[in-house]
Amino acid sequence: MNAKTILVVDDEPLSVKILCHHLRKEYTVNVASNGEQALQMAGGDTPPDLILLDVMMPGMDGYEVCAALKANPLTDAIPVIFITGLSEGADEQRGLDLGAVDFVVKPFSASRVRARVRNHLELKAYRDHLETVVKERTAELLNKQQQLENINCELEQQHLELEKHRAHLEALVKERTGELLLKQQQLEELNSELEGRVIAEVRKNREKDSLLVYQEKLASIGQLAAGVAHEINNPMSFVTSNLRTLKSYASIETEYRAALEAAVTVYCPSEECARLVGVKEELEIPYILDDTAALITESLEGAERVRKIVLDLKDFARLDGDGIGDTNLNDCVQSAVSIVRNEINTVAELELSLADIPLVLCNALQINQVIANILVNAVNAITPWGKIAVSTECVAEYVQLTFSDSGRGIPADIIGRIFDPFFTTRDVGKGTGLGLSISYDIVKKHGGEITVSSEVGVGTVFVVRLPVAGPLETENISG
Ligand SMILES: Nc1ncnc2c1ncn2[C@@H]1O[C@H](COP(=O)(O)OP(=O)(O)OP(=O)(O)O)[C@@H](O)[C@H]1O
Ligand SMILES: [Mg+2]
Repeated sequence: MNAKTILVVDDEPLSVKILCHHLRKEYTVNVASNGEQALQMAGGDTPPDLILLDVMMPGMDGYEVCAALKANPLTDAIPVIFITGLSEGADEQRGLDLGAVDFVVKPFSASRVRARVRNHLELKAYRDHLETVVKERTAELLNKQQQLENINCELEQQHLELEKHRAHLEALVKERTGELLLKQQQLEELNSELEGRVIAEVRKNREKDSLLVYQEKLASIGQLAAGVAHEINNPMSFVTSNLRTLKSYASIETEYRAALEAAVTVYCPSEECARLVGVKEELEIPYILDDTAALITESLEGAERVRKIVLDLKDFARLDGDGIGDTNLNDCVQSAVSIVRNEINTVAELELSLADIPLVLCNALQINQVIANILVNAVNAITPWGKIAVSTECVAEYVQLTFSDSGRGIPADIIGRIFDPFFTTRDVGKGTGLGLSISYDIVKKHGGEITVSSEVGVGTVFVVRLPVAGPLETENISG
C-alpha cells in the first residue's frame, strides 16, 4: 500500500526538520516554505493527504493559505492541521472557522503530532470511504431511479396504449350500441307495422266474414223467398181461379134467384109470398148476397196483392242468373221500396223523383240491399212522422241516388263511425250495426262511393254514386 503524503508548510527550517524526522518513517513528506508554494503543491497532480500548516509565515500567513485551500474545490477536502506558536483561544477558533481540523501548538510533542496526523488521516480515509460509499450508493440509487423511471416510462407507455385501446373499445361499444339501438328501433317499427297489418287483416277478414254471412243469408232468404213464392203461387193461382169461378157462379146464382123470386111472386099464394119475404128479410138474404159478391171481389184483390208481393220478392231477390247485369237503378229503387213499403208507410210520406238514367252494370240484388238498408235506417230515424225522399240522376259517367230523410240526424261525434262494422246506436238485439258497413263494402266493390251529411234535428242525406260501366273486376260483386 502506498504511503500517505503529508505536506509540511513552514518557513522555519528547524520545525520542518523535526516534523520530517518524525513523520518520514510512516509517510511521504513534502515541504513548502511559504503559502504560494503550498497552494501550488496542494493543487498539483499529486495532492497531499494532509497539510501541516504553520500560521506565522512571511507573505501569506497560514490563515490566508487555509482560506485559499478551502476556497478551491480541488483542495478543500484536504485536512489542514495548524502548527503554531500562538496559543490564544481566539486564534485557534479563527483557524477552525476557516476549516482547519486541528491545532498543534509549538513546541509540540512528536507523538502527539503523529497521533493527530494518524487520526486525521484515518478520519479522512473514513470520510473518503464514506464519500465513495455515498457516491456508489448515490450512483446505485440514481441507477435504480433511472430503472424506475424507465419502468415508469414503460408503464406510462403501456397505460397510454391501454387508454388508446380502451378509447377504441369504447368507441366500438358506442358504435355497436348505436347499431343495436337502430336495429331495435327498426325491429320495433317492423313489429308495430306487422301488428297494424295483422289487425287490419283480422278486421278485413272479419268484415269479409260478416259480408259473406250476410250474403249467404241474403242468398238463402232469396231461395226461401223463391220457394215460398213458388209454394204460394200454386195455391194462389187456384184460389184466384176458384174465386173468379165463384164470382161467376154467384152472378149466375143471383140471376137464377131473381128468376125464382119472379116465379114465386106469380105462382105462389100471397100469404106464402109474404112468409117468404119475411124469412128473406129475417135471414138478411139481400145483404148476404151483396156481401158475398163484395167478399169475393175483396178476396180477389187480396189474392192479387199476394201475387204482387210474391213478384216483388222474386224481383228483389233476383234469382235469375248470377245477379250481375245492366240494371235500371230506378227498378232497384222500386223493388226495394216495395219490400220496405209497409215500414215506410207507418212513419213517413215517400217522395220518389226517378229520372231517365242509363243502365248500370251491377249486382242488382246487392244494390237492392243497399237501398233497402238506407231506407230502413231512414225509417228508424223518424218519429213520429216525417218525409223520405229518393231521387236518381245521371252525373257524368255515374248514376247518383240521393236519399234524404227528416229524421233525428246523426251527431257529429259519431258520424265518422257509422260505416264501421258493428257500430250501432240501436238497442241491444235490435240492430247488428252491419247494414251501412255492408252497404259501404258493396258500393266500394262496385267502384262507387257512398257519402253522408247530416244535421241533428233536421235530417240526413245519403248519396250513392255508381259507375255506369260497373266495377273494374266483376268477380268482386258476383253473388
Ligand atoms: N238516416 C239515419 N239517421 C240517423 N242515424 C242513422 C241513419 N242511418 C244510419 N244511422 C246511424 O248509423 C248507425 C249504423 O247504421 P247501420 O245500418 O250500419 O246499423 P243499424 O241500423 O244500427 O243496425 P242494422 O242495420 O244492422 O239493423 C245506426 O245505428 C244509426 O245510429
Ligand atoms: Mg241499419
